[in-house]
Amino acid sequence: MKKNIVVIGAGTMGNGIAHTFAQSGFTVNLVDVKQENLDKALKTITTNLDRIIAKGNLTEEEKAQTLGNIKTFTDIKDAVTTADLIVEAATENLDLKLRIFSQMDELAPENCILATNTSSISITQIAAATKRPEKVIGMHFMNPVPIMKLVEIIKGYSTSKDTFDVIFEMSKNLGKVPVEVNDYPGFVANRILMPMINEAIETLYNGVAGVEEIDTVMKLGMAHPMGPLQLADFIGLDVCLAILNVMYEGFKNPKYAPNPLLVNMVMAGKKGVKSGEGFYDYSESKKAEKVSKMFLK
Ligand SMILES: NC(=O)c1ccc[n+]([C@@H]2O[C@H](COP(=O)([O-])OP(=O)(O)OC[C@H]3O[C@@H](n4cnc5c(N)ncnc54)[C@H](O)[C@@H]3O)[C@@H](O)[C@H]2O)c1
Repeated sequence: MKKNIVVIGAGTMGNGIAHTFAQSGFTVNLVDVKQENLDKALKTITTNLDRIIAKGNLTEEEKAQTLGNIKTFTDIKDAVTTADLIVEAATENLDLKLRIFSQMDELAPENCILATNTSSISITQIAAATKRPEKVIGMHFMNPVPIMKLVEIIKGYSTSKDTFDVIFEMSKNLGKVPVEVNDYPGFVANRILMPMINEAIETLYNGVAGVEEIDTVMKLGMAHPMGPLQLADFIGLDVCLAILNVMYEGFKNPKYAPNPLLVNMVMAGKKGVKSGEGFYDYSESKKAEKVSKMFLK
């Protein structure tokens, strides 16, 4: 059984992935270029474990074991020498991912599977940066990782059945529900979600309704736990824009063209929760109040 996991990138997704593997008994080497991000990740994991304890679903001893399963590294070389599986969750940038995969290919043991948590970049293209494309696969966790059950398992053009089977089973061992998906732009989750978010923005842009009105229709009318505009704020408007552009380019289909309001907001630095403002205002004094001045006609 594959036991030694390396997670590259200790941001939003990386800390959640490390937490999930460690809590399921795997040993995890967590790597980031910035020590402060590693420190922050360990803090977040500790807080999240305390939350699970408060709900009665974990003991103090299991928390200690989970944290004991995680080691942090700033140099990938030291982290991957005995890896069975590396899950890359670094910043969403094609050149960066190609560089990391070529480096992992050089440094990791021959049998090690190389997975990526990318939301939108082609697994086939990433695999082509290595000499082991049959061992490269998409493992698309959802945010927040310890809570969300789904993992999209994305087969690149050259991913072997062996690699797929190992990752599918391993996802089940993490208590997740894996779903098999082929490698086309947006995979399944974002191919369906992003056009809905884009259409919600278009509806706002056309003045059909305001921010809260659109979100309320989708929450109360369609039983969505969160409206599409608030969800876009949580995902990050820059991330939504990047994914739409990948689908627009990938399919050469205007139906995926990002709405100009989304483009403008990203250019203005309004990226949602992470920047303090998107369709809602997340500053301390306002706490998710809609930014009505900008959108309501
Ligand atoms: N945020 C989401 O909701 C979400 C959901 C699913 C998938 N994803 C995908 O997960 C990946 C990570 O996204 P995130 O939201 O966690 O990003 P993030 O910006 O929160 O974290 C990225 C981390 O990668 C680190 N990093 C950058 N270059 C590195 C390198 N060479 N080596 C090691 N670490 C490096 C950064 O320092 C940062 O800590 C992306 O591919 C993204 O598309 C994100």
